[in-house]
Amino acid sequence: MEFFETVEARVSDREYVPKAVSEKDIQKILHCACLAPSAGNIQSYRIIIVRKKKDREILAQASHKQMFMASAPVYLAFLSDKRRNKPKYGSRGSEFFSIQDATIAAAYAQLAATALGLGTVWIGGFDDAAVAKALRAKKYERPVVILPLGYPSEEMEGHERRKLCNTATEL
Ligand SMILES: Cc1cc2nc3c(=O)[nH]c(=O)nc-3n(C[C@H](O)[C@H](O)[C@H](O)COP(=O)(O)O)c2cc1C
Repeated sequence: MEFFETVEARVSDREYVPKAVSEKDIQKILHCACLAPSAGNIQSYRIIIVRKKKDREILAQASHKQMFMASAPVYLAFLSDKRRNKPKYGSRGSEFFSIQDATIAAAYAQLAATALGLGTVWIGGFDDAAVAKALRAKKYERPVVILPLGYPSEEMEGHERRKLCNTATEL
């Protein structure tokens, strides 16, 4: 899919058919995620691939019971890593850049998934501690976003956005 077409096509999908995502597609998505820019090219994040149904259900539960998530056959969870860039950037790196690194990587993953004809939704509404526990996160890692990944059960319409003139302003 051409880039602008991909950006236009991406929508949040909240129900998926029970069809596996190929390993090749998962690896392609992960590859694209890792091509995202990161502060100092340090990639202060970790991506966890969640496949087991039980783990998907626990994470859906921990995401304020957004149980629709579990219909996706696989999740990609993005965690910031406070440790990796601290030596170079101090607290700005560990507290701020690491979250941006994880966020941008996830945004790239979302677009890559769309380009492959897959559906995703950005899940940021969750209980931090419960999600960290379910992901067996290290103490220096913070879950930033979970992307359920699968084939959507219906074609969703794109949503309206704020007027560009209100969103982007001249200095
Ligand atoms: C930071 C952030 C947190 C979000 N958290 C959730 C969430 O927990 N559950 C959910 O269903 N959608 C979540 N979304 C998806 C938004 O609701 C969605 O992107 C927005 O309504 C625009 O719709 P679209 O993605 O179809 O364009 C989140 C999106 C962002 C960027």
